[in-house]
Amino acid sequence: MIDAVFGYAPGKVILFGEHAVVYGQPAIAGTIDRGIRVAVTQKDGRADAGHLEGPLFRSHSLGLRARPDPNGEGPEGLRKALAVLVELYGERVKHLVLSAEGTIPAGAGLGSSAALSVALLRGVQRVLDEPALRDDALVERAFALERVFHGNPSGVDHTTIALGGCVAYRRSNGDGAASVERLKLPRRLRLAVAVAGSHGGTARAVAALKDRARRHQGAYQRIYEGIGALATEGRAALEEGALAAVGELMDLNQGYLNALGVSTPAIEALCATARERGALGAKLSGAGGGGAVIALVEDDPATIVRAFEAHGVPSFATEIVDGTAVEAA
Ligand code: PMV
Repeated sequence: MIDAVFGYAPGKVILFGEHAVVYGQPAIAGTIDRGIRVAVTQKDGRADAGHLEGPLFRSHSLGLRARPDPNGEGPEGLRKALAVLVELYGERVKHLVLSAEGTIPAGAGLGSSAALSVALLRGVQRVLDEPALRDDALVERAFALERVFHGNPSGVDHTTIALGGCVAYRRSNGDGAASVERLKLPRRLRLAVAVAGSHGGTARAVAALKDRARRHQGAYQRIYEGIGALATEGRAALEEGALAAVGELMDLNQGYLNALGVSTPAIEALCATARERGALGAKLSGAGGGGAVIALVEDDPATIVRAFEAHGVPSFATEIVDGTAVEAA
């Protein structure tokens, strides 16, 4: 008998707007067919991480295993996140054993921490036999966990991951709610993804950019606004299914990200390779300084995945899907 209960959440990519979204500009993100699964058992249950093995979780184990006890084992961030779970659900969660594995690497701009947050919440809800959280409650609780990992996140990651699918997001400027809209995509959005190493931390990248921007505030502000305009145009192109235009706008977005200093020679080389091999467009996804590069393709991403692999970086094909359904597969 397996007595583990699972919570799953997909990873995500950002098609338009990372960094500028922190400063109030719109962004477009989408969930993918890979993610994080958390197994939850009662303390004396016999299930362990072994039960997580399955076709979905063959690779990229995150190797996290911890109890929801602030004094328990596990990396610092995870321990703090577990303390938040105790705040949200009370002492009863101290009797749970949680383990997480996934098919997205951590710290690569693919939303691993937000996916972990949402998967934890789904798993704990289930093991406590509570009804599934409504979208807004899930987003709010995931934000409490995400803040532990990211300090002051814009919210695009955990909101997209909690909702699933392709999402247009704009953070609130004051006390009001963020603007969140699910987009209907008339065409499949197929991607080749390369992981150009770990990106060295979202909070650090955001802080370093803030510091650089201090010296030329007007110039940086215009770049953020330029990125925001690309996200708005990108949204229209996505909703029309005009994939060639989406790709061109992604290339422009990458140019701005390079100007902001969050790209690297390795990322630029991967983007160039993707474009040479026929990608419609390519850019980094997430905080940059390493991490994921995404290339939009018309048909099969396999050629570009192979070209990425020739750079010696882990790569995979994916597409934007309502990734929450993958769990049932
Ligand atoms: O954590 P990442 O690598 O997916 O980056 C998140 C996107 C940023 O805009 C850089 C930060 C944020 O809070 O939106």
